[in-house]
Amino acid sequence: MTTTLWSGRFAGAPDAAAFEFGASFRFDRRLFEDDVTGSIAWARALSKAGVLAPDEARRLERELADILERGRSNPASVDGPDEDVHSFVERLLVERLGDLGRRLHTGRSRNEQVSVDLRLYLRRRIPLLQRVVAGVVEALVERASAAGDGLMPSFTHFRPAQPVLVAHFFLAHVAALRRDYGRLDAAREESDALPLGSGAIAGTSYAIDVEGLARELGFSRVVHNSIDASSDRDFAASFLYACTLTMVHLSRLAEDIIILSGDEHRFFDLADALSTGSSMMPQKKNPDPLELVRGKSGRALGHLVALLTTLKGLPSGYNKDLQEDKEGLFDAEDTLTGCLAVIQSVVASLALNRDRMESAASGMLLATDVADYLVGRGVPFRRAHEIVGELVRRLVAEGREFTSLSLAEWQSASPLFGADIITCVTPRASVAAKRTPQSTSPAAVDARLAEARRWLTRAMA
Ligand code: ARG
Repeated sequence: MTTTLWSGRFAGAPDAAAFEFGASFRFDRRLFEDDVTGSIAWARALSKAGVLAPDEARRLERELADILERGRSNPASVDGPDEDVHSFVERLLVERLGDLGRRLHTGRSRNEQVSVDLRLYLRRRIPLLQRVVAGVVEALVERASAAGDGLMPSFTHFRPAQPVLVAHFFLAHVAALRRDYGRLDAAREESDALPLGSGAIAGTSYAIDVEGLARELGFSRVVHNSIDASSDRDFAASFLYACTLTMVHLSRLAEDIIILSGDEHRFFDLADALSTGSSMMPQKKNPDPLELVRGKSGRALGHLVALLTTLKGLPSGYNKDLQEDKEGLFDAEDTLTGCLAVIQSVVASLALNRDRMESAASGMLLATDVADYLVGRGVPFRRAHEIVGELVRRLVAEGREFTSLSLAEWQSASPLFGADIITCVTPRASVAAKRTPQSTSPAAVDARLAEARRWLTRAMA
């Protein structure tokens, strides 16, 4: 028979199925290490408050440290019929220390315990996740470097737009992932408040030095209000939001690579080892890992929406609904970690087909540059746009390109076109003409690439 932390109040044993339904040990065992860490600090705080004799606190600490050590070296031993991880740790302690083990929970509630556990967990896990994000940034930066001065078309509405440097394309994804890295920082910062001292909801009657306890556990501050603290999961929602947006960005990167490595473009070739075949069509080389990344982004979003939905209807104070926070959070973390790893491999092994990209970066993509040529000769932009638009319409109808126009034909569109139009308007001249720091001009891209490398050095330190 399972004993619970609350059996005294009840005449008989709980209904087995209902107990199983409410138990969380199956998944909150992942908080084992954090639960023990929090309990060790709590034992010290109780001793400082005069609730435990210094020697009692030392014995509790010693046993808890041993429980932690055993659980770490043999994770399978973190198991049993217990209701949750908190009950598990307390059971082991009581088995070892009898009544002294029963003193540890003085002035403390599982409501605040689960919050401190989850906060400690995120504080230690988020930096690991950030490292993997930085790994993908590194692979993208490396591809950007490898691309050198290579050119490719950019797209708006997924129609060819203007020539850009291939490096600029890779650095676009770097920019998004660096924001994700920052959002993970923010989620970690939000988790960084000590909820202990809140009791079940009203605070605790023992003289716990919460500021000292916060320092001991490495928290930079203490929560403001015990009612709020017992049901605050904003930090978990912020973490899920950070994971979700990262997944959205990975999904878009996956989509770009899927499309641009397809037979219609062949800008990139996927490594064989990261592609899959078809059971029926012998010619197929499918981007399954990338499709899975795209597919899995829905999971993270689902977990975010599920948590927000759980939170929205809750009355103040702890409610058991909050137990639903953990499975989604852990799954989002695992899903993101897996997707980051596979994307890193795909990007790092991506072959760039320089010639195909460069030849696709020409033709009508230069229409804006042709208009800018006229602007440079005094034509108002709106008028230049019209002139070039008409020229494009004619060329499209005749199945021709700008390069096929004779000087006389150029000049029949506008007498301001000179012989230099052929040399002035090229894909390379187009990127070189850009002026702003966020543009695809080679100087700007070089500067961004150098800055991204400096960022990586710090992120990987
Ligand atoms: N397993 C619970 C959770 O995850 C721990 C807190 C339980 N508190 C309670 N009053 N039942 O939220």
